[in-house]
Amino acid sequence: MKILLGITGGIAAYKACELARMLVRGGHQVRACITDAGSRFITPLTLATLTGEPCFGANPEYHEWRPNPKVEHVDLAKWADLIAVVPATADIMGKTANGLADDLLSTVLLAARGQVLWAPAMNHAMWKHPSVQKNLATLRGYGHAVVDPAVGFLAEGESGIGRLAELEDIFEAIQIAVSPKIPAFTGKRVLVTAGPTREDLDPVRTLTNRSSGTMGLEIARAFRYAGAEVHLVIGGDLRVPWGLEATRVRSAQDMLEACEKMWSAMDGLVAAAAVADQRPEHYAVEKVKKSEGPENLVLVRTPDVLATLASEKRSGQWVVGFAAESENHVANAQAKLVKKGLDAILVNDISQGKGFGNQGNSLTPVTSKGASAVMGPLPKDRLAQAVVHWLGDYFGG
Ligand SMILES: Cc1cc2nc3c(=O)[nH]c(=O)nc-3n(C[C@H](O)[C@H](O)[C@H](O)COP(=O)(O)O)c2cc1C
Repeated sequence: MKILLGITGGIAAYKACELARMLVRGGHQVRACITDAGSRFITPLTLATLTGEPCFGANPEYHEWRPNPKVEHVDLAKWADLIAVVPATADIMGKTANGLADDLLSTVLLAARGQVLWAPAMNHAMWKHPSVQKNLATLRGYGHAVVDPAVGFLAEGESGIGRLAELEDIFEAIQIAVSPKIPAFTGKRVLVTAGPTREDLDPVRTLTNRSSGTMGLEIARAFRYAGAEVHLVIGGDLRVPWGLEATRVRSAQDMLEACEKMWSAMDGLVAAAAVADQRPEHYAVEKVKKSEGPENLVLVRTPDVLATLASEKRSGQWVVGFAAESENHVANAQAKLVKKGLDAILVNDISQGKGFGNQGNSLTPVTSKGASAVMGPLPKDRLAQAVVHWLGDYFGG
């Protein structure tokens, strides 16, 4: 996609160089447009070199506007699928919120045709000022996206809210904004479960499995890219990417309770979590001493999260499960599909150690109509996108 990266005069401007690299590596065509104040922090030459395109805006020879036979601000505004202003000063947001255009970037922002995304960065007192918050509310009201700043150490030595958000979060917000939407999922609410569950024996010991949660998390991201509102219910320790609502859970029971709270408001469920089938019968409140340790561990069944939610499915909702199978993949998956009342099942071949924790994986979609062509082996992010496209075709008719 074509991304115009606007850089304004904040100390975080140097981070825009790395973002430009990330976007270029991510396959985007990137042009930079820097304000005069921005060019006092980083040079247009750096941005031009990193993007492989001329850097628009401030120019050491011609000051702000370059002599150009074309109407540059309109051309740039038409060219961009998305304008991302990173970092965004209080000044540029104030100008755009109030219709002011006194340099190239602010003029392009008023002429924008595509989406606009702001990643503000400033001192915490500036950030909290009512006029800044009012301008932000105005920009949000125009449909612009905002990646809120983070709390932390600020350049001037103070601590508080105002640090530029993490670049991976800004990158994720850009990806969400520019990814092609899938009509079957646009505006739909999708519940995704991911990760292992942990069944505790005592405050320090637990029963778990080797799932990392990567596949479910990538499925959640792919739905978000496709235009869905996603709620992720996740076990394990993976960082939840920007743009996903998430509930962190520990045990199978926690996962069921979290899912049940929101299931009726959802359009669909993809259950990718590796939920423990058993838990210890008793939980010891104090750490069990070596001498007192049980020689035999008694296990009892945990609730079946997927089957319970599928049994509570109302008309119009769909449910997709995962099956990790080491043999007779399709036959076992079809049996599970019927037994649990699922619409589709994605079969994960875990023979020879494939599946858990690895970055690459293959999946075979199975429905009541039979098995579809295997997807993969692919890295899990690309596999998740293939899965969501397949589901979009399947449910979108
Ligand atoms: C050292 C220094 C650091 C600054 N950092 C910020 C900042 O982080 N955020 C901000 O909103 N303004 C910051 N400013 C103020 C802006 O540079 C100033 O408002 C400028 O007019 C912004 O112009 P622009 O929005 O056209 O880039 C800083 C100024 C200086 C001198």
